[in-house]
Amino acid sequence: MGSDSLGPMTAMKALVLIGGFGTRLRPVTYTIPKQLIPIAGKPMLYHVLDLLPPDLEEAVLATGYKSAEIAAYVAAHPPRVPVRCVPEAEPLGTGGGMKNAGADMSDPFICMNSDVIAELDIHAVLETNRRKAGVGTMTLARVEDTSPYGVAALDADDRITRFVEKPRPEVAPSHWINAGLSVWRRSVLDGIPPGRPVSFETEVMPSLLERGTYGFRLGGFWEDAGTPARLLRAQQLLFDGGRGGSGALPVGATGRGPVATGTGVSARGATFGPYVTLGAGVTVEAGAHIENSVVMDGAIIGAGAHVAGSIVGPSARIAAGQRLDQAIVAEEGNG
Ligand code: GTP
Repeated sequence: MGSDSLGPMTAMKALVLIGGFGTRLRPVTYTIPKQLIPIAGKPMLYHVLDLLPPDLEEAVLATGYKSAEIAAYVAAHPPRVPVRCVPEAEPLGTGGGMKNAGADMSDPFICMNSDVIAELDIHAVLETNRRKAGVGTMTLARVEDTSPYGVAALDADDRITRFVEKPRPEVAPSHWINAGLSVWRRSVLDGIPPGRPVSFETEVMPSLLERGTYGFRLGGFWEDAGTPARLLRAQQLLFDGGRGGSGALPVGATGRGPVATGTGVSARGATFGPYVTLGAGVTVEAGAHIENSVVMDGAIIGAGAHVAGSIVGPSARIAAGQRLDQAIVAEEGNG
């Protein structure tokens, strides 16, 4: 696909909403913003940015909660596309965050949530958006349980005719939900009132349906990594999709990978099951076992401990012999 058919790709910008509190991942999100939690070897935010076109002009990060931590991290670890942080003093919601950070957006621009883990062809999404020539295109993922999401009703041309937030299963219009990545005409931002919290989904979307919003049905994997279980499921999908690095076991450990191992990890005599991320400087003592989990920078897993389906926050300490199953644990004093 040539860039001619897509318009001037180099001018494309993206707006990433990254200002939420991540309450469903507490207590770890008291210490670290959700988007910096590593999965399959790197922070969630970096997997999100991987979905954007490589020649993107810039991604504007609409930050809020822990904005200074995010700004410091991206400055120290430059992502593959240029990023610029625009913090908001008060939480402005999804629509308000777009308005606050969207001053210089391209036309059209990409807008995405910061916890979308997916396999998608962004060029195909942009091409569909160009062809349909509406006000925007929303990617849609097919899920069985639609109740936590915004659900789209579509006509034969995939135009979204109705959008229902968090419907009861018996009234859900389809199984196609807002996947958290859309393309919008810049004029969409003009319709958002400035300086106050605005929900994009409930306050802005209705008028956009009238102007012509189309759905793009995703075929590859998709997960919203906003809860502990879904974050670990997203990690598994990334590893299985080959986006988790080599996955080799740490030196001196046995068992089964993939394990994404940070720098300075010590895990001699430990055993692993599949789908583990170990942050920098993690210590896993002899006889400990970890599977399907994330263990963040500087954490210590004591001898003989057993950690499964769990998220262990930065510098947290799991006692020798302790069993963690589907737990989320932060350093003492942070949870
Ligand atoms: P929970 O508190 O666990 O629901 O997580 P969350 O705060 O991330 O909320 P949710 O997953 O519903 O948010 C969807 C996306 O919008 C995420 O990428 C959030 O970071 C982002 N977001 C939510 N509220 C705001 C806000 O007030 N401002 C900005 N800039 N982004 C927001």
